[in-house]
Amino acid sequence: MSQPMNLVIYLARAGLGSRRSCDDLIRRGAVTVNDEVVTFPREKVMPEDVVLVDGEPVEARELRYFLVNKPRGVASTRRDPHAERVIVDLVPNGRILFPVGRLDVDTTGLIILTNDGVLANRLMHPRYGVPKTYVARVRGKVTRRALGALRQGVDLEDGLTAPAEVNLKKQSAKTALVEITIHEGRKRQVRRMFAAVDLPVEELHRRRYGPIADKGLEPGGYRELAGDELEALRRAGEEVAVAVGGEVEGQPILLAAEAPPAAEPIRAAADERVAEKATDLHEPGREAADAPPPRAPDEPGREPDGAGSAGSV
Ligand code: URA
Repeated sequence: MSQPMNLVIYLARAGLGSRRSCDDLIRRGAVTVNDEVVTFPREKVMPEDVVLVDGEPVEARELRYFLVNKPRGVASTRRDPHAERVIVDLVPNGRILFPVGRLDVDTTGLIILTNDGVLANRLMHPRYGVPKTYVARVRGKVTRRALGALRQGVDLEDGLTAPAEVNLKKQSAKTALVEITIHEGRKRQVRRMFAAVDLPVEELHRRRYGPIADKGLEPGGYRELAGDELEALRRAGEEVAVAVGGEVEGQPILLAAEAPPAAEPIRAAADERVAEKATDLHEPGREAADAPPPRAPDEPGREPDGAGSAGSV
C-alpha cells in the first residue's frame, strides 16, 4: 500500500473480515491508529501508520482470491509428485496460494485459491461447511427412492450423510444428470453417496462454491475475485464462524457446545420430474447463477480425511 486508504478497506484487505464486520469493529472502538481509537470507518490510513485491532497489530498483506475451473487430470493440491499438473500452476504466481478444499483429480469445476488463511479456514470448516453444488452424470435409472435417500442421508462407512438438496435434471436411456448440494466435506463424498444408491458417478462437476458460481469460465480458466463477490465470500465465512460460536482470529474455529441438528427441509416427491429441457453437466440448472446460495445448516457434519483440507469438497 503506497496510497492513503480507508481504514475499513485496510482491515478487510488484511483479512479481518467483510467490510460490514470491519465497519462494526471500527465503530465499537476496537481499532487504534497510532495509539488513537478511531471510530470513523473511512478514516484514511497511510503505510507507516500503526494499526491495532483489540491491541493486536494488523498486517496489511496483499490478499488474493482466484476462482479456477479445474479441468480433469489436475490435482487440487499445491504439490503432488504423481500429478502431471497441480491447481496452483493454473494461476500466475499461484505458488503463494492454496486451494480452499479439494476436488478429486477426475472432478472438474470451481475451486478457490487464496493466501487468506483465515477465510480459507472458515470456509473449509469441516463441521459447518459452506454449501457446494455439483452436477453428476450417473449410470442407471434414478428412482424416487434413490433421490429420497440422497436427500435425507445415506449410510457411508464414515457415518450417515447430512441432508442434501438433490434434483434430477435429466434421465436418458443409460445415464442421468443429477444436481446435488451438500454441506459437508468428506473425502469423495458425492461419489460415495451415489455409489451407495447404486448410481455410479461417471462425471462430476462442481458448479457452485458457497455464493460463487461462474458458468462462463472455461476449463483451466481463472479469474480474480473482488468486489461484491469477494464480499459475499467473506460473509459466507462469517456465517460459518457465527454458526460455530465465533473463532480466534487466525486459529481454527473453536466449536461452541454442540448445537442440536436442524434438518434441511426435504423436497416434495413431486419435484422429481425429469427436466424437460436438455441439461448439460456444465450448464446451470434450476438454481440460477445469481440465486442466493442455500444456507449452511446448523447441523454437525464429519471430519474430513486430511487436516487443513476439506476432504474432497
Ligand atoms: N465429492 C466427490 O466425490 N468428489 C469431489 O471431487 C468432490 C466431492
